Formats: sequence, C-alpha cells, structure tokens
Amino acid sequence: MKLNLGCGNYKMDGFVNVDKFAYCEPDEVVDLEVFPWPWADNAVDEVVMSHVLEHLGQETEVYFGIIKELYRVCADGAEVRIAVPHPRHDDFLNDPTHVRAVTVEALAMFSKKACDEFVAQKAANTPLAHILEVDFEMEDMKFTLEQPWLSKVQSGAMGDTDLLLAIRQHNNVIKETSVKLRVHK
Ligand SMILES: C[S@@+](CC[C@H](N)C(=O)[O-])C[C@H]1O[C@@H](n2cnc3c(N)ncnc32)[C@H](O)[C@@H]1O
Repeated sequence: MKLNLGCGNYKMDGFVNVDKFAYCEPDEVVDLEVFPWPWADNAVDEVVMSHVLEHLGQETEVYFGIIKELYRVCADGAEVRIAVPHPRHDDFLNDPTHVRAVTVEALAMFSKKACDEFVAQKAANTPLAHILEVDFEMEDMKFTLEQPWLSKVQSGAMGDTDLLLAIRQHNNVIKETSVKLRVHK
C-alpha cells in the first residue's frame, strides 16, 4: 500500500490519497492528529507527505504520536518522502495553519544512526529515535533555493561556503526542503 497523506487537491495515481477534509475528495478522510491511524502495522511501502507535516502536531506529544504512527504503519524498508517550506521563508510565516517548523536536522533526530552519533559526540540533542522507538534513516535531502540565491549558485557566482553562510544569516534563501527517509525495523 502507498499513502499520499494530506493530499489536498494533489492526488497521486497508485496511492491511497488521504486528507482530513472531504472537500478535496480524498480516497479516505482521516485526521492524522487522531490515533490510532486506520492502517495495519507494516502495511505501507511508500508514503508521500507534501507540505503537510508543518500543519501537524502543534502540541509536541501529538507530533510525536504522528511520527510513531507513521513508523508503525510502515513496513521495514518503506520509503517516506517529505517536503516542507523552510521555516525562515515567508511561505512558512504567511500561512496561519503552519504550526510546526520542520527542518532536516529535526527530522534527523528520528534516525537511530544519527542519535548514536549525537551520543558519541556528547551533543546535547535529545536521542528521539531511541526514546520514541522509531528509526527513519535520512537517505537524501534537497533544498530548493529562492531567487536571487538560485541564480547566484547556478552562475557560479556563489559557492557552497557562501551559500551556507547566507542560509544562516538571511531569510528567504531556501524555499522548500525535501527529504527521503528509509524505515528500519
Ligand atoms: C498545504 S496542503 C498540501 C496539499 C498537497 N499535499 C500538496 O502538496 O499540494 C496541506 C494539506 O494537509 C491537510 N491536512 C491538514 N491537517 C491535516 C490533518 N490533521 N489530517 C489530515 N490532513 C490534514 C489539509 O487539509 C491540506 O489538504
């Protein structure tokens, strides 16, 4: 089974398209903030969450419930693709239904391998993957840059070091973050 969670009007062939609101005519109307989710353990091979996670889990315990349900319904080796607006882009700030900043670093906290590295480095990060008993390894990540930064990088006028500095110092550099997570059970 493949799930497109929080599908809105963006339906995907071959996926069960799921949304909280019936207006967009999803295959299943499900509120992802209500537990348990209506799918069996290990039933899902692929999940897409496109511009959804930032709408979910304003309360940390609810957010953790979503992460735990996502892990429970996924089979070992399942692929989870998540896209979110960057929290320091106006796209994130302008939507009153955005309740949670989701970053690459925050998603890495749900990887046991990353948590083991935090512990080895004596970093202060909470080892959430071990605490929540989930394991989503980050296989890939991509930033979609906003202009004028995109053109500067594409033309070679800006290198990696300056781009990293710009990301730290300015708003509206990264428009969207996409990650591919692999479920380990
Ligand atoms: C910004 S839209 C993204 C729609 C689509 N995934 C896309 O990429 O175009 C966010 C979607 O998440 C849905 N959503 C918000 N809260 C939800 C919840 N608690 N359970 C299920 N869907 C939810 C909204 O109804 C909306 O369709």
